[in-house]
Amino acid sequence: MAEKIIVTGGAGYIGSHTCVELVKAGYDPVIIDNFSNSEPYIVSRIEELAGQKISLYEGDCADPALLREVLGSSDQIKGVIHFAAFKAVGESSQLPLKYYRNNLLSTIELLEALAENKVSNMVFSSSCTVYGQPDILPVTEETPQKPAESPYGRTKQMCEDIIHDFIKSGAEIKAAALRYFNPIGAHQSGLIGELPRGIPNNLVPYITQTAAGLRDKLTVFGNDYDTPDGTCIRDYIHVVDLARAHVAAINFLNGVGETNFYETINVGTGNGNSVQEVIDTFEKVNDLNLSYEIGPRRPGDVIKTYADVTKSRKLLNWQAEYDLAEALRDSWNWQKKLKK
Ligand code: NAD
Ligand code: UD1
Repeated sequence: MAEKIIVTGGAGYIGSHTCVELVKAGYDPVIIDNFSNSEPYIVSRIEELAGQKISLYEGDCADPALLREVLGSSDQIKGVIHFAAFKAVGESSQLPLKYYRNNLLSTIELLEALAENKVSNMVFSSSCTVYGQPDILPVTEETPQKPAESPYGRTKQMCEDIIHDFIKSGAEIKAAALRYFNPIGAHQSGLIGELPRGIPNNLVPYITQTAAGLRDKLTVFGNDYDTPDGTCIRDYIHVVDLARAHVAAINFLNGVGETNFYETINVGTGNGNSVQEVIDTFEKVNDLNLSYEIGPRRPGDVIKTYADVTKSRKLLNWQAEYDLAEALRDSWNWQKKLKK
């Protein structure tokens, strides 16, 4: 019987791609999602891509009774990947308690339920946001963290600390906090991808919605930074590569002999690309012209960041396979299908 992995937030952008990759690797994902930022039809799409039925528990993963039910449903549950969280940076400054309640409580309840049920492996969705503007590039896991720019970012720092403290206290849990750089792209089939609600804040969904005619034009937030072309630099990672990093992390934790273990691991490509390069590559790979203008800087923006990927290569035996052009082709393919 296949080992089961609970995937909180499994109907979301990164979770849905991870469920598909888990099945490909021989695992059986069990989704907990309350659809607060996703759509139930995505679960059927995951089933279509995975070629099998996927167990779904609709509800809040901060609900201890639901967690008990899920964890009690099978003795084959070997781990959890905890994606469920709110992630809108701007909204988190307006509604901080909503973010602290959801992101912290879900993590705390999950940790307690794992320990009670003797399920030891946990992969946590963290973010490069914990580093802020790093002084030295590329960013290693030892790079000192900066004060978070938003309550959202603070929840990631706090959840990492909560997990680590619980493990240090002796809880028999093995956890990997994956610090994602900038996830973009979509499944090559165009069946699953990112579903931003309202006006997107992130660069690539804004670009694809502009190309689709849903937005007038993209505003580039500043081209007078101290970078080669003046625009900010990020490490954009294809969501399918990111999904595979989660499978690699579960495999890795399965092999850890200690009962008590915690690591933080960067997940990026190791390459930095500027906003201008993203625009130029998007136009080239998809053979279209994007309407854009240069605007003022966005307050609080990190100027330049990209990952040192030595640790993910060494520990997870994983590295990104797709490049920026492939990711932007898949983002546009997903957007075109959404429009229909
Ligand atoms: P997403 O919003 O698409 O997916 C999150 C899913 O969790 C959604 O399906 C939502 O309905 C569900 N959810 C939220 N709270 C829940 C709760 N209490 N109970 C049950 N389900 C709940 O987001 P995503 O882009 O897939 O991000 C996944 C994780 O990765 C999040 O923790 C996010 O903070 C983190 N992350 C995302 C990015 C990014 O750019 N997308 C970058 C770094 C880190
Ligand atoms: C965002 C989040 C951050 C999260 C990270 C990873 C914010 C403020 N921060 O940051 O917490 O960890 O994603 O997913 O949302 N840009 C434009 N025009 C636009 C949109 C973006 O020029 O309309 C530029 C930005 O200035 C930035 C780059 O594109 O230089 C990427 O922006 P974005 O997609 O928002 O990601 P991050 O800034 O890395």
